Amino acid sequence: MGKDKLKRFAEVETFHNVFQPSMEEAKAGFKMKGNWHNDYFKNNNPIVLELGCGRGEYTVGMAKMYPEKNFIGIDIKGSRLWRGAKTGVEDGMKNMAFVRSKIDFIECLFAKDEVSEIWLTFSDPQPKRPRKRLTSRLFIERYKNIMKPNGIINLKTDSDLLFEFTLEQIEEYKYKKLLSSWDVYGELVPNTEDEDLKRLMEIKTFYEQKWLEEGKKIKFVKFIP
Ligand SMILES: C[S@@+](CC[C@H](N)C(=O)[O-])C[C@H]1O[C@@H](n2cnc3c(N)ncnc32)[C@H](O)[C@@H]1O
Repeated sequence: MGKDKLKRFAEVETFHNVFQPSMEEAKAGFKMKGNWHNDYFKNNNPIVLELGCGRGEYTVGMAKMYPEKNFIGIDIKGSRLWRGAKTGVEDGMKNMAFVRSKIDFIECLFAKDEVSEIWLTFSDPQPKRPRKRLTSRLFIERYKNIMKPNGIINLKTDSDLLFEFTLEQIEEYKYKKLLSSWDVYGELVPNTEDEDLKRLMEIKTFYEQKWLEEGKKIKFVKFIP
C-alpha cells in the first residue's frame, strides 16, 4: 500500500466526522442507528445520504448549499472519503458526516424513517451482477426500510446500462418517476427553470469530470420508490 494511502487511513481515524463500524459491530447494533439526529447532528433536520460517495463531492457540495439539512456520505474506501471528511474538519462543517461501510449493510446503519433522501453518484454499473446494482430491487427494498414515506432517490450516472436498468426498474415496480434526462448538460439544465436543480447539477464528482472529458453524456433520474 502507498505511503499516502496509509497516511490517509491513519488520519481518517482521528476525524470526529467519520464512523467506521466493523461488520460485526454494525450487525450487533451500530451505536448511531436511530441516533443520528440526537447524538451527532443535534437537530431534527432531514438526513440526506450519498451512497458510493468516493471523495464526497456531492456530500460536501450539498452540505454547503443547504445548511438546513444534514448529509452523510458512505463508501467502503476510507482513502477516498478522507478527502470529503478532511474538508468537513477544516471548514468546521457540522451538518456532515461520513461512514466507511458496505452499502449492503445500510439497514444496520440507519433506523426506519431516519433518512429523507438518497443520492447515487456514478455508481458502479455492475455489468455482470445486476443484483449488486445500487438501484436493483434488493437495494431499493433496503432503502425503503430506512427512508421516510415518499423519500426521494436521485441517480446521476454516465452509464447507459445502469440508467436504462434503473428506468426499467421504475417501470416494473411502479415507482414514481419525478424527472429523468439522458443528457443533463445538453437538455435538462438548459431547459429547466428549477434553480435548485441547476445548482445541484453544478456539482461535479471526480468520476463525472473524467467521463465528461471523454465526451460521455451524463444522465439523471429522480424517483420515489
Ligand atoms: C465509480 S465510483 C464513484 C465515486 C464518486 N461518487 C464519484 O462520482 O466520483 C463508485 C464508488 O462506490 C463505492 N462502492 C461501490 N459499491 C459499494 C458498496 N457496495 N458499498 C460501499 N461502497 C461501494 C466504491 O468504493 C467507489 O468509491
